[in-house]
Amino acid sequence: MKTRIGSGSSSSLAELCVLLVADGVACDGGPRLKALVAAAMASGDVKTTFRGTVMFRQAGKAVTKRLCCIGLGREQSIHSEQLRRVAALSQAVAEDAGASRFALLIHAKTLGKLDAEQAGAAVAEGLILGAYRYAQPQKEPHKPRKGQDCEVVLLGGNARDFARGFAFGEVGARATVFARDLENQPSNICTPTSLASAAKKLAGGGVTVKVLDRAKLQKLGMHALLGVARGSVEAPKFIALSFGPARGKTVCVIGKGLTFDTGGLSIKPASKMDEMRYDMCGAGAVLGLFHALRSGLVKPRHRIVGLIAATENGVGPAAQKPGDVVRAMDGHTIEVLNTDAEGRLVLADAIAYGKKFYAPARIVDLATLTGAVVVALGHEVAGIMGNDQKLCDELISAGKAADEPLWQLPLWDVHKEQMKSKFADLANINAGQGNGATAGAAFLSVFAGDTPWVHLDIAGTSYGGVSKDYYKSGASGTAVRTLLRFVETL
Ligand code: BES
Ligand code: MN
Ligand code: ZN
Repeated sequence: MKTRIGSGSSSSLAELCVLLVADGVACDGGPRLKALVAAAMASGDVKTTFRGTVMFRQAGKAVTKRLCCIGLGREQSIHSEQLRRVAALSQAVAEDAGASRFALLIHAKTLGKLDAEQAGAAVAEGLILGAYRYAQPQKEPHKPRKGQDCEVVLLGGNARDFARGFAFGEVGARATVFARDLENQPSNICTPTSLASAAKKLAGGGVTVKVLDRAKLQKLGMHALLGVARGSVEAPKFIALSFGPARGKTVCVIGKGLTFDTGGLSIKPASKMDEMRYDMCGAGAVLGLFHALRSGLVKPRHRIVGLIAATENGVGPAAQKPGDVVRAMDGHTIEVLNTDAEGRLVLADAIAYGKKFYAPARIVDLATLTGAVVVALGHEVAGIMGNDQKLCDELISAGKAADEPLWQLPLWDVHKEQMKSKFADLANINAGQGNGATAGAAFLSVFAGDTPWVHLDIAGTSYGGVSKDYYKSGASGTAVRTLLRFVETL
């Protein structure tokens, strides 16, 4: 599937033209379509309401076989999210119509206050994410699904800014697709080892990749991670990716890579346990970010280091047991009161590793850490907590720009108090006071110490959101686009 910006070649116009229309804005479709659009408008059937779709078949030798009008809603209130959705909807219309390619025509004046660069990004994201399907294993081989090639025609407005945004949007969306593919795989296909090979394939184009195996983790004393891995026959892997020059500042972006979370001996209920395949979506976001960096389009001024702690949390005979005490790489001892609070254990070692080997100026971690964040915020908003308000604010604005909203939850000293243990430096759960999402963050904050750090709890947003044109079901590939916006501003 190809997406490009053009001025409307006859071949892309021929099968299907999709014209975006807004309430109260006259749209003529540009010189080639003027007559057809005028007739469509005169019919009175065009719907300008958001997602209102009307198809007009053309007879004879018209420039196009079909003209489809899709409504954007009221021009004054159009946001990038609506445009992203409508662009994705145009993909679906093209697929339904059986068009192998189509033209998407957008009058700049229908976009209201939305700036051209933002608009370009949203359109590219909608087209690419809207075409995404997970190629699930099945008996009948998949027909190669190419998706519909699309030529986007901007009528009026700032073409250069639109094109710049479009290129940025393409990179982020293709990286999100890459993340979704890894995240949707079941745990017998997506293992820590396969995550490591996916990471290794990203090497090149300025990206370097290193994978540490169990023996190396033992040497480094990463027993919080190793303790979680004890219950599974799948070998744990620690993955380190790097982009950009080592001089200057480093930002560590850390992902929870639980390729399956049974809960361990503090086992989860059977219902919906299959969803714990998505417990590596933090890792998916980090790998997606490097997929995007590899394109070379975004050049952050700091070195970006991605760290992924990949393992299963199983119930094998060697599994760690409630009450076990493990020592993390930085020396802190942890009482594992609940083996299902495993994400924070693997992240503790990942943060410690990052601090020891990269002395980062900032740390961002992403994790499907708690069910509590889903209770608090649901599937459309991720939680953010940290020890540095400026860094929090930077990620919140990056999330806003990507339309992946983040909502800050408190993280105060009193929450750290809750994580004290009778048998070790700290416990991995609080004593049942509630505030589950904050408790997880409070635990991690001990390992971040005074390095500016934020934690994104993406347990809700990584899957299970409402169907919205550019996302249907399964993994969302969340946070890849937010991270890309964040590193772009560095
Ligand atoms: N992976 C889960 C969190 C999760 C829950 C992700 C639902 C996606 C959807 C995490 O490892 C976990 O089990 N957390 C526990 C923590 C508790 C034991 C303190 C939880 O949220 O129940
Ligand atoms: Mn768990
Ligand atoms: Zn988990």
